[in-house]
Amino acid sequence: MNQFELESLLSGLPLGKLRYYGKVTSTNELAARWAESGAPHLSLIAADEQTQGRGRLGRRWLTPPGSALAFSLILTEVKAEAALAYNALGALAVCDTLNQALPPMLPAQVKWPNDVLAQRKKLAGVLAEAHWQGDRPAAIILGIGVNVSPVSVPPAEGLNFPATCVEEVVGAEVDRWGLLRAILEKLLELMPYVGSPDFIRLWQMRLAFRGEWVQVRQEDGALLEGYLSGLNPDGTLRLRDREGHFTTVQFGEVSLRPVDSSSK
Ligand code: ATP
Ligand code: BTN
Repeated sequence: MNQFELESLLSGLPLGKLRYYGKVTSTNELAARWAESGAPHLSLIAADEQTQGRGRLGRRWLTPPGSALAFSLILTEVKAEAALAYNALGALAVCDTLNQALPPMLPAQVKWPNDVLAQRKKLAGVLAEAHWQGDRPAAIILGIGVNVSPVSVPPAEGLNFPATCVEEVVGAEVDRWGLLRAILEKLLELMPYVGSPDFIRLWQMRLAFRGEWVQVRQEDGALLEGYLSGLNPDGTLRLRDREGHFTTVQFGEVSLRPVDSSSK
C-alpha cells in the first residue's frame, strides 16, 4: 500500500483528503494535529504500523506491520448530542462488515462501549476522541484498529481480555485493504443515523453478553454486577440485579466482562 494505491482503493467514496503512512506513532494523534490545521470533514489517515497506538485511558493498542488495519477518520460535522455514540458507530460498522463474511452462527458483536468481539474474543477496537470547542465538538477523531492476520494478535500474557483476528475467525486469508474499503462504506452508510432510535436498535441487536450476567468495573474501581438487559434509548447500558432493580451504566472508563454462569 502507498498513498497512490490508497487513493485508488478509495476512489468514488465521498471522503475528504487521504493520507497513507507506512509507520506512525498513532493515527489518532496525527489525525488530531491535522484536524487542528484544518483537515476537511471525512479526511482519513491510514497506516500499516503504529508504534504508539492507543486505547482508552492511555492503554496501548498494538499494530505490528503488515497485519492489521489502523485508521482514523476526522469528523468535523458532528451531531453534538450524539457525541458519545461515535464509538458505537465505528464498532457497528466493523461488525456489520464482518457479518457479511462470517457464518451467521458466529456473528461479530459489540462489547459495550467500544470493542468488537467474535467468538467472545476482541478483534477490533474503536477510540473516538472528541475535541471540544466550548460545548460543541469541533472534531471527533474516529480511530479504528482491526486485527486481520494472526501476527496482529498480541501475546495472551499482556492482555486483560482474549484477542483474535479476522483470519482466525473466518478460517481463510482476508484482503486487508479490501476490508478497509468495506468498513468505510459501512461507516458512511450508518453515519447519518448515529444516535437515532434505529441506530440504538441496531446497536442493541449486536450487543455482546446481552441476556448474560456481567461485571462492570467502574472508574473508581467499584464492581457492579448484573444481568445485561440491553441499552437505554441514549445508548447507556441497562443492568438488572437479582431483585429486579435496573441500574444504568454511563459512558466512561468502564470495563465490561461476562460472569461465569456457573457461579449464578
Ligand atoms: P477491556 O474491556 O478489554 O479492559 P477496554 O475497552 O476497557 O477493554 P481498551 O482500552 O478498549 O480497554 O483496550 C486496550 C486494551 O486492549 C489493552 O490494554 C490491551 O490489553 C488490549 N490490546 C492491545 N492491543 C490489542 C490488539 N491488537 N488486539 C486486541 N487487544 C489488544
Ligand atoms: C480500544 O480498544 O481501547 C481502542 C483501540 C483503538 C485502536 C485504534 S488503531 C487506530 C487508532 N489509532 C490509535 O492510536 N488508536 C486507534
